[in-house]
Order: sequence, then structure tokens, then C-alpha cells
Amino acid sequence: MSLVDKTNKVVLDLVKCYLKGSLAFHLEPEEAKVMCWDNQQAFVNATIHNQLLQNYPVNNEFSKLFFKKLIDCIKSYHEIHDDFYTFLCFLMNKESLNTFCHRHYVLNNDTRNIITIMETNNMVVNGTTGMRTWEAALTLADWALSNKDVFAHKKVVELGSGVGFTGITIAKECNLESIVLTDCHNDVLKTIKRNIEINFPKLNNSDDAQPDAVSNIDVMMLDWNDAEDLKNNLVPDILIGADIVYDPSILQPLCNVIKSFFDKNDLLEVYIASMIRNVDTFNSFLEALEYNEFKYFKLAQENCVFIEWDDNNKQRCTLKIIKNK
Ligand SMILES: C[S@@+](CC[C@H](N)C(=O)[O-])C[C@H]1O[C@@H](n2cnc3c(N)ncnc32)[C@H](O)[C@@H]1O
Repeated sequence: MSLVDKTNKVVLDLVKCYLKGSLAFHLEPEEAKVMCWDNQQAFVNATIHNQLLQNYPVNNEFSKLFFKKLIDCIKSYHEIHDDFYTFLCFLMNKESLNTFCHRHYVLNNDTRNIITIMETNNMVVNGTTGMRTWEAALTLADWALSNKDVFAHKKVVELGSGVGFTGITIAKECNLESIVLTDCHNDVLKTIKRNIEINFPKLNNSDDAQPDAVSNIDVMMLDWNDAEDLKNNLVPDILIGADIVYDPSILQPLCNVIKSFFDKNDLLEVYIASMIRNVDTFNSFLEALEYNEFKYFKLAQENCVFIEWDDNNKQRCTLKIIKNK
């Protein structure tokens, strides 16, 4: 790797950590030495001076910790850029209890191609786990971006969309005919709508439509406990879901809703990504699929391709489910 490439990589890795809200960075002395004034300038230009982040700031508390840690890493080697301190002072004066923040997910290492999601840091808010992006949402979106032909010109429905990262990413990148993001919680549905507005700002302006994005993106209340109430005209080619297999009490309702969609379309393909926190729960889901006479395949997904996720965690599985004819 050339010196320029090494330098760019140090700055890019820091930018990506900041955008996704991660403090898990570490600079070896030779990497810290790379962070001279000009490279600190490049870092602030790509983060706090970037218009996207000014419109949709990341969490205050996280920002403070990030800048303090970065200053600690660099200060033995270089003068610290004025903008670092100015920004820290600005954060100190701000109310720090903002429940919602924005995370910026970089696609394909390209900081011009970002999905911005308004979400919280909390695992449960108002009784729902849907107010943050979970790891399985990243793995499923990454699988979709690596298999775009599966999704091209297809009608997609997402179950348990949460804040909407997977559905929005697929809508932007996979040339769909349409997509409906669904969930059972009103606050979650409102947040998905906001995230669609953020990521498709021109959607309502037909003169200025984004050529690469699906214009037919919708949000709908869908509770798996009411599978019999599915709209007649909702007939997807593909059903997706990320991190929806975690509560033993909803496995049968989840299977019922999958079955209702199979009843409308024999050729339906279902893709469900899971983080396996409890092996018994996951195995019960597999048994429920067999009991309902669905056929499933475990899809190979060893490493991150277009989206970063923790590929060291092997307790995960993405399933393709079809009807057993
Ligand atoms: C762990 S979150 C996953 C959210 C998102 N897919 C992700 O991976 O970031 C589970 C989601 O399933 C939704 N959910 C749970 N039970 C549901 C039900 N009975 N009907 C519809 N959605 C449900 C929750 O509201 C929540 O948004």
C-alpha cells in the first residue's frame, strides 16, 4: 500500500467509525502520525462540516467521546486542529439528552453513498425493539446488495422493519418495482416515514425524481397476530425480515403471516436474517417452518461485502424460505 493509500485509509476508517456511531477505533503510533493538521481537516470536512451531518447530526454524547478519544490518540504527535476544540465546546453547551440521533451507514466504502437513519441507542423504547438498527438488518441488506438480481423488478414486503434500514437500502440500491415496509408499532411506523423522507428527499417531486431509486415505497401497519387481515392487493414476490426471530411467543404468528403470503403467491421467496441469541428459539423457528411445510436453505454469508457488520460473530443465519411443493 502506498503512503497516500495508507493515509487515506486511516482517515476513511475514522470517518466511517464516526458516521456509524462507533467508538471501536484504535490508532497505532504510525497511524496517529498520519493525522497531521491537513488530515484532521479532511476528517472534519467529511464529518462535522459535511452538510448531511449538519442536517442530521449523530448523537451528542457519542460525538464528545469520539472527539476526546481521537484527540488523545493524536495529541502526542500533532497540534490539534482548532475545529476539534470548537466542536467540543459547542457540544458541551448543548442539551445532551437527545433520545434520537442519526446514524450514517456508508455503502461500499463510498462516503458519497450513505443511508441516514434516525434511530435511538436503546434496545427497547416504549415497549418496542424497533427503534434502532440491529446487526441482522445490516447482514440482510448486505446480502441483498450482493444479490441484486434476486430483487430487480420485484415487489417486496418487509416484516418488522424497525427504523427501516434494510428496506430503505434495498429500495435505493436494488431496482425494485415496489416495497412496503411494515411494523406493528405506531412510533416505529412514524420513524420509518421520517427515514424515508430523509433518504428520498426528492420522492414527492416528480420533476426531480431520483433515477436510481424506487418511487413506489410505502409504509404499513402489519401485526403478525392479525395475519388474516392482510390486504388483498398486497401480493409480494419477495418477503424479507431482519431480526424478527427472537421471541418464542411470536414464532407461530410469524409463520402464519408467512403462510398467508404464500397462499397469495406460491412462488414467493422469503429471506430472513437472524442473530442467534438463543439457539433453542432459533431451532423452534426452523421446526415451525418444517411443521408448516415450508422448505428452507441457509445462505452462505461469510464476510461483509458492501456494508460493514461484525463478521467475527458466527452466531447468525440468513434463511431463504420457499413453499414445499
Ligand atoms: C429486533 S427488531 C428488528 C428491527 C429491524 N428489522 C432491524 O433489524 O433493525 C424487531 C421488530 O419486529 C417488530 N415486531 C415484533 N413483533 C411484531 C408483530 N407481532 N407484528 C409485527 N411486527 C412485530 C418490532 O416492532 C420491531 O420493529
